[in-house]
Amino acid sequence: MTGSNGLLGQKLTDLILQENHMLQKNRILQETKSNRDKPQSRTEIQLIALSRGVNRHPQQQGYTYIDIDLLNKEELNAVFQHYQPDCVIHTAAMTHVDQCEEDPILCQKLNVELVKNLIDLCEAAATHLIHLSTDFIFDGQDGPYKEDDQPNPLSLYGQSKLDSEALIRQSNCPWTIIRTILVYGIVDDMSRSNIVLWAKGALEKGQEIRVVQDQWRMPTLAEDLAAACLAAAKPKITGVFHVSGSELMAITEIVQQIAKFWNLDQNLITPINSDTLNQKAKRPRRTGFHLEKAYSQLGYRPTSFWEGLELIDSQLQKIS
Ligand SMILES: NC(=O)c1ccc[n+]([C@@H]2O[C@H](COP(=O)([O-])OP(=O)(O)OC[C@H]3O[C@@H](n4cnc5c(N)ncnc54)[C@H](OP(=O)(O)O)[C@@H]3O)[C@@H](O)[C@H]2O)c1
Repeated sequence: MTGSNGLLGQKLTDLILQENHMLQKNRILQETKSNRDKPQSRTEIQLIALSRGVNRHPQQQGYTYIDIDLLNKEELNAVFQHYQPDCVIHTAAMTHVDQCEEDPILCQKLNVELVKNLIDLCEAAATHLIHLSTDFIFDGQDGPYKEDDQPNPLSLYGQSKLDSEALIRQSNCPWTIIRTILVYGIVDDMSRSNIVLWAKGALEKGQEIRVVQDQWRMPTLAEDLAAACLAAAKPKITGVFHVSGSELMAITEIVQQIAKFWNLDQNLITPINSDTLNQKAKRPRRTGFHLEKAYSQLGYRPTSFWEGLELIDSQLQKIS
């Protein structure tokens, strides 16, 4: 897996470690019972987690962490040849939409050229490549979108993700593209915030926040996205999938729910229109996904936004 220090990367690490733990427990149980000769139907996943800098996941045992700059082609090649993975889940990317406009060269390197390098490695070894993409490949004029709807990105970030999708579609390795929307959740030592943590943090400090009322999204719980990636990886399910929460909400509505959940002052929220923000990258107006393909082929079951907040709340209580 690439990008293991990120939000999705850390949730995937959690999930894989949990699954391996369950399999180990079942194996021990089986070995102590009479059916010890029965073959094991599932094997543990050997996780190789790649990210830059120190490993920020609190659990450091049970897998291999490699500190790597993924843009270093030779190093990436050496790691790939050494471990010969069956599957690569590629979560690393330049994910900050405005930064992509500010530094288009780095955006191209990380979001497109790195994907090309991974494709070359995966093609040579027939490795399954699972790539993460975004609702920002669409222009937001007529969401929610199906997998085969016409993309029309408004930003360099969206364009770079669409370009990487095109490379993957032309590749000769087994591939899966998972597009997602506004991912939220909490992990240790995050390099990037998300809507839930940002709004909660600001409102708790009594800060007034300006929130766009003319953009609609389906916020996605990071745990749900990780489960969908793993569901595609294990039996090698290929193709393009839309994976998000199932509730289409205006960003103001999302933030109001966050305030309501934690009993915070909703009067601090000022609804504004996107054009007053002067953001570098244009955002699509209304995205959202049709999820039927993920329901039927990945067994995907999204958590409701309210339940997602309950989960984060319980995780925060464990941290404090
Ligand atoms: N988050 C969203 O709302 C959202 C929405 C749609 C699609 N997606 C897609 O979903 C995927 C996962 O998103 P995420 O939210 O988990 O992203 P994230 O939290 O930003 O994680 C990305 C990780 O990749 C690492 N990384 C970046 N460049 C690297 C490099 N050159 N070498 C090694 N590691 C590198 C980052 O390291 P640092 O921590 O050191 O920066 C970070 O830990 C991305 O492909 C993103 O485009 C996300």
